[in-house]
Amino acid sequence: MELVYFSLTGQTAKFVKKLGLANKQVTEANPFFTLLEPFVLLVPTYDEETTSPVDKFLDYQENYQKCRGVIGSGNRNFAEKFIYTAKDICLDYHLPLLYAYEFNGTNEDVQKVKEIIERLDNGN
Ligand SMILES: Cc1cc2nc3c(=O)[nH]c(=O)nc-3n(C[C@H](O)[C@H](O)[C@H](O)COP(=O)(O)O)c2cc1C
Repeated sequence: MELVYFSLTGQTAKFVKKLGLANKQVTEANPFFTLLEPFVLLVPTYDEETTSPVDKFLDYQENYQKCRGVIGSGNRNFAEKFIYTAKDICLDYHLPLLYAYEFNGTNEDVQKVKEIIERLDNGN
């Protein structure tokens, strides 16, 4: 399972680094690349315009068809707006929300996400 992530202030990038798995970054400058293998998407929470490169990536060459799920990150101080970007993407593209965490994730978050990815790799 490959990881595809978006990160503006580096928190998601740090989390991805801790997972130690193959990954690719979606940026505003480069949302247009094709994923040939199944992947999990990691996305922080910002307004729609800010995260639009992620939609561009998912739409490009129907990348969304290879997406096995979304991991959302944000800040719980935003209360009901916590991880709404990930939730919106899940609704728009009919994808499962696999996990949610804050900032660059705790050791427990890293462990749990590793387990989720392992399960997906094993086809469960
Ligand atoms: C302008 C701005 C708006 C944000 N809005 C939300 C929000 O509505 N909900 C949320 O859960 N987190 C929100 N966050 C928190 C970020 O999603 C969070 O800090 C995340 O870890 C940043 O990831 P990144 O460093 O990979 O970009 C916001 C952060 C900023 C700077």
